[in-house]
Order: sequence, then structure tokens, then C-alpha cells
Amino acid sequence: MDRLYIFDTTLRDGEQVPGCQLNTVEKIQVAKQLEMLGVDVIEAGFPVSSPGDYNSVIEISKAVTWPTICALTRAVEKDIDVAVEALRFAKHKRIHTGIGTSDPHIKYKFNATREEIIERAVAAVKYARRFVDDVEFYAEDAGRTENEYLAQVIEAVIKAGATVVNIPDTTGYCLPAEYGEKIKYLVDHVDGIDRAIISTHCHNDLGMATANTMSGIINGARQVEVTINGIGERAGNTSLEEVAMILKCHKGLGIETNINTTKIYPTSRMVSSLMNMPVQPNKAIVGKNAFAHSSGIHQDGVLKNVQTYEIIDPHDVGIDDNSIVLTARSGRAALKNRLAVLGVKLEKEKLDKVYEDFLRLADKKKDINDDDILVLAGVDRTANHRIKMEYLQVTSGVGVKAVASLGLNIAGEHFEACASGNGPVDAAIKALKKIVNRQMTLREFTIQAISRGSDDVGKVHMQVEYDNQTYYGFGANTDIIAASVEAYIDCINKFKD
Ligand code: KIV
Ligand code: ZN
Repeated sequence: MDRLYIFDTTLRDGEQVPGCQLNTVEKIQVAKQLEMLGVDVIEAGFPVSSPGDYNSVIEISKAVTWPTICALTRAVEKDIDVAVEALRFAKHKRIHTGIGTSDPHIKYKFNATREEIIERAVAAVKYARRFVDDVEFYAEDAGRTENEYLAQVIEAVIKAGATVVNIPDTTGYCLPAEYGEKIKYLVDHVDGIDRAIISTHCHNDLGMATANTMSGIINGARQVEVTINGIGERAGNTSLEEVAMILKCHKGLGIETNINTTKIYPTSRMVSSLMNMPVQPNKAIVGKNAFAHSSGIHQDGVLKNVQTYEIIDPHDVGIDDNSIVLTARSGRAALKNRLAVLGVKLEKEKLDKVYEDFLRLADKKKDINDDDILVLAGVDRTANHRIKMEYLQVTSGVGVKAVASLGLNIAGEHFEACASGNGPVDAAIKALKKIVNRQMTLREFTIQAISRGSDDVGKVHMQVEYDNQTYYGFGANTDIIAASVEAYIDCINKFKD
């Protein structure tokens, strides 16, 4: 079997979707999930584009171990300098630099000549190679670049030290046969092509991203650039789950990936819910209806033997009772079953009450995740924690200083402290720091509502730095100040000393 490298760009090209931006804590969550999924490369951002992207590349580099962390740049020295700095903590690092090569890009974007574009491309690759051994070059709009000229560009950048050459169909224009021929042309005409890996990067403007990617693979590409759920600007990018499952179903192609396909569905749910971006119900592999047989004839066939209408076992993509989406139409049994999977067993009376709350929540929030269910069931996530909050009282308002008094139980002993602060969260955290006297810094803090009502449960995610390490904490409470203190305590409970 030939190995195909999976380059995930959910956190770069995928995150360019308007309104779907993630904060650093959320990006780290996704990156860790991608690591579990088995991707080879994570494109973590475009560091020069914003301080948020710069910071995310740093934090993702610290948080993951196995995948290569990649940072995007233009063919500009300043971009490369900033990317090098952002990648300083990555265990395996790659710079992804490039320039437009199609005639419209050369003429309208750069007002340059073809020769000048090659010079800039070569200079950028050479410059990046001064800092890292792994440099990927992208020929933006390669889909509409004449093959002969594209081959010249690719030959020049490989000579300059590019280890991977990316052939983006930036506008999603190519037909599958045309894109495949382009890859084949490069394989046949570029001197030194065997010293680099050819990568596909296909957009879905005409709904051909996956077909084009497959055509690229069949013709010699050995890296694919993909996103979870196919998210990305405009009509999106090639979806990771489609390529991974095509290769699993069509073993005859002789190509394998490192993807643990049973993590596909949980990863899809996580990305969809963090980005607030629903997956279309009929989306291949991960859509709600992808495995739902509704017509009588199909149901009859599947009941006799699943092979009649199913080419994929839903368990292979991680769909089991645990990952069935709970909605307002789910019954008590489905909720009970999900709670059991989460390790929670409730008496009948308590289950009835949780089910009522669940239905109310499901009315407001279409897609209920495991976090929400645990909150509804009142599960004490802190049961085994060394530090627990015993009480918290806060006075705050307009024109008065916020004051908090906090009681903690630390390994069975009671401690308390009072503090004032710039707002109730600040006061409560200052009281916490009086008891737990360590040099810790709050780096990121997000509050999310579950159902968006005024009686809602607030979920807090925090990132706290201590002793050069970053810790992530979670808290959930109808009182958002208490949820914030819980999240901070959750971080402290994870400190190594
Ligand atoms: O679509 C594209 O051309 C890109 C490049 C920046 C790689 O995303
Ligand atoms: Zn792209």
C-alpha cells in the first residue's frame, strides 16, 4: 500500500468562513482532536495575518505532539520571519509559502511577468529553507495555470528546496479529468519531482472538490489538503472524511492513510458545534441522514442484510449509540442510553425530570452535545478533585466595587478569603488567588450560553498559564461567576505539583 499524507487545514482555510472564527482555546481543542484522528499535518494559521492567528500557531504547537504544524505565508520575507517565530515550539514544523501563478493573478494581483513570479517563488522557498527543513510551496490558482508554465515553476521551487508542492484549484474550476491530467503532467515533465511530494488542494465551487482530489491521488499526488465537514471559504474545501472513507472502501487503489476513521464522527460534531456551523443532513459520511434508511424498501432490505444498501458500517466512522444526535424528537430511552454511555445512571424520578429539562432545551437548541447532557443531569465533574468550591458570594453592581468571598475545600481542609476587584469575576478570582497563592496568569476566558435564555447554564472555558505550562479548564453553572471560578479551579487541579 502507498501512504497518503493528510494535511488538515480546518484551522486555516476552514476557519476563513465568515462568522465561524474560533478562539485559541477552541482551536486547541480541535487540534488535539485532529491529532487523535491521525492527521499528518495541521495547518494552524497564517501568523502574519493577525495576532490571533500568530498566537494560535504558538499554542497549537505547544499542545500537540505528533502532527507537523504548518504556518501559511505569502512569498514575502516578513511573513516567513513571523511564521518562523510562531512555530518555535512545534516539535515538527513546516512553512507553507507561495504565490499566484495563473495569468489573472500574475497580471492583476502582482502586475508582474511570469519570470518575475518564478524569481519570487524561488527566493521565498530559499529564504524559508534557511529556517526549516520542511518547506511546502503553493502555486495559487494552479487549477487555471497553463501546465507548461506550472511545470517550470514547480521545477524551480523543488530545485530551491521545496519538499512538498501544492497544486491548488483555488477557484474550484477544474474538471476531475483535467485536474488529474495536471498532476500527471507534473509527474511526467518536472525534473526532480521525485524529491518532493505533490499535494492537492481543491475547492468545491462546482461541487467537484472530492472528485478532483481523488483524480489527483490516482495520478500521483501523495498529500491531500482537506477540512473537516468540507468547511472553507465560499463552497468550501475537500472534506477529509470523504477522502478517508473513499480510500477505505476502495482498497483496490492501494493507498492508505493514518486516519483512525472511528474518530471521524466525533470530530465532525466537535467542529460543527464549536463553529456553530451545521452539517447539511445529506452530507456524505457525517450528515444526520447519511446512514438513515427511510424508505420501506430500503428498510426491508437492510433488516434482511445491511449489505443490501450500506457500503459503510456506521461504526467505522464512529457512529454508535453514543454519537446519535439527540434532538427534540428523541425519546426518554435515547436519553437514558446516552447517559449510560456517559457513565451516568439515574433513578426513574430523576430521569423524568432531566428528560423534561432536556425537551425544553432541545426546543431552543437543535443539537445537544454530551457536555449539555451532563450539565442537565447535574453530574458533579469535580467529585475526585483535590480542590473544590464550597461557597461563593459576590456583591457587584453599578457604582459599587465588586466584592467576593470564597470558601474552598482543599484535600479535606477548609479555606476562605475575601477580595474586591474590577467586576465580579475579577473579585472572585482574586479571592481564589489569595487561597491558592501561585504565579498563575489567565490567558483566555470564554463564556458560552447553552440555550441563550436568561435562566441558562453558562459554560466557561479557560486557559491558565503556570510554570511555563498552559492548562485548560471547564466550568458550567447557572451562575456565570461560579462557572468561571470552577473553570479556574479545574485548571489548578491539573497543575503537576
Ligand atoms: O486555495 C488556495 O489557493 C489556498 C492557498 C493559500 C494554499 O488556500
Ligand atoms: Zn484554499
